[in-house]
Amino acid sequence: MAATSMEQLVSLCKRRGFIFQNSDIYGGLQGVYDYGPLGVELKNNLKAAWWRSMIYERDDVEGLDAAILTNQKVLHYSGHEDTFSDPMTDCRKCKGRFRADHIKDGKCPNCGSTDLTDPRPFNLMFKTNIGPVDDGSSFGYLRPETAQAIFTQFKNVVDSTSRKLPFGIAQIGKSFRNEITPRNFIFRVREFEQAELEFFVEPGEDEKWHEIWKEERIKWWEEQGLKRENINIYTTPENDLAHYAKACYDIEYQFPHGMEELEGIANRTDYDLGNHTKAQDEMNLTSHCHPNNDSTQKLCIMNDNNKWVVPFVIEPSMGVDRGVLAVMTEAYTEEDLGEGNSRIVLKLKKHLAPIKVAVIPLKKNNAQIMAKCHEIKKNLLKLGIGRVALENTGNIGKAYRRHDEVGTPLCITVDFETIENQPESVTIRDRDTMEQTRVNTADLRAYLLDYFNK
Ligand code: GAP
Repeated sequence: MAATSMEQLVSLCKRRGFIFQNSDIYGGLQGVYDYGPLGVELKNNLKAAWWRSMIYERDDVEGLDAAILTNQKVLHYSGHEDTFSDPMTDCRKCKGRFRADHIKDGKCPNCGSTDLTDPRPFNLMFKTNIGPVDDGSSFGYLRPETAQAIFTQFKNVVDSTSRKLPFGIAQIGKSFRNEITPRNFIFRVREFEQAELEFFVEPGEDEKWHEIWKEERIKWWEEQGLKRENINIYTTPENDLAHYAKACYDIEYQFPHGMEELEGIANRTDYDLGNHTKAQDEMNLTSHCHPNNDSTQKLCIMNDNNKWVVPFVIEPSMGVDRGVLAVMTEAYTEEDLGEGNSRIVLKLKKHLAPIKVAVIPLKKNNAQIMAKCHEIKKNLLKLGIGRVALENTGNIGKAYRRHDEVGTPLCITVDFETIENQPESVTIRDRDTMEQTRVNTADLRAYLLDYFNK
């Protein structure tokens, strides 16, 4: 089977309503995308799977949903104001602007000119005025990572939940980076979502937990449908680590444009909690505490030996948009059906499918058949399996093809037999095998519960 190309995905996403260019009618906004009717379902399903695995299936993680607007001081003491930058180079000939590390052989990627400026740092954070006066004196940032609010709310979460080490705080939300060269569809964008876990551990236990989380996260991605052979674990060399990290694994995926980072798993040590804490000699806190911090809190916790410690942090941080791109890349399949026929089928894991079941009437606008379709849809919704779509196009073949393309695992067809014969029955068609099974409507509930809980 040929590898999925970016063109195939972009085309499917637009054609079927997964992802659109933002501000499209005005020529678009570079590096910003909108999720359409099916994209929002797929993205929500991926986030729900992450939340479930982090919060509901574990007993050592709490959730958080913090604001996007961030006090300047947070990003000052976190080190982002000083160090969160990429080297940028301008082409003097075509005036193009590029990340210096994306330039090959000293040539402009746009026009090939070698007349380039020296690289200089470009801060990636979006700065914004806060309040009614725009004189530059009152500003904040759109957060460049969701993590910082987890650190600044550490004490409030600990105090309100009585947590002991090890434990984590997880969050899903928007992050913003003024990327110099957004590219590869939703892979590198300026507004994106992250799902981040900050897992706090006793200093000295960090390396053990780093390994544990690496394995956990590979397993989770496989559960989302990614084949292990398409995943690579990249150990970031020391000279390439983020300013806060002591070590980092990247979970890389074979995207259409190459093997690239899908998720980072960093050992952030006590860097962040320490930097948001003013050094407190009487508590013997560790070295990263800041001598002159303005923070009002000591972000530490009492350990089992009644000693105050600033915990170390292991951080699995996934890009939700990159996750959507990865599961779509993996699921996209073109099948030759013989005799000149073919189909596109999105073989998504069923828990990720935007539409779980399509209810399709054999005949368009037939009152009796439509009434039965409505009744079946209403009953299926009660199962809580997700979106159930009702079709009324009157063309079964076309409906099957369309639902294959968007990854709907099951189509239920209501025909004349359904309304005329007893016991009442429907046809269930499986997306992957295309097999059709006749099932009594009285057994539908059990059939679907069994199918979706498997
Ligand atoms: N809190 C740690 C952190 O933000 P990162 O490696 O910069 O680390 C984590 O980002 C993840 O966020 C990446 O692995 C990637 O999936 C996603 N990400 C980062 N920048 C992105 C961008 N410009 N567009 C889309 N996703 C991005």
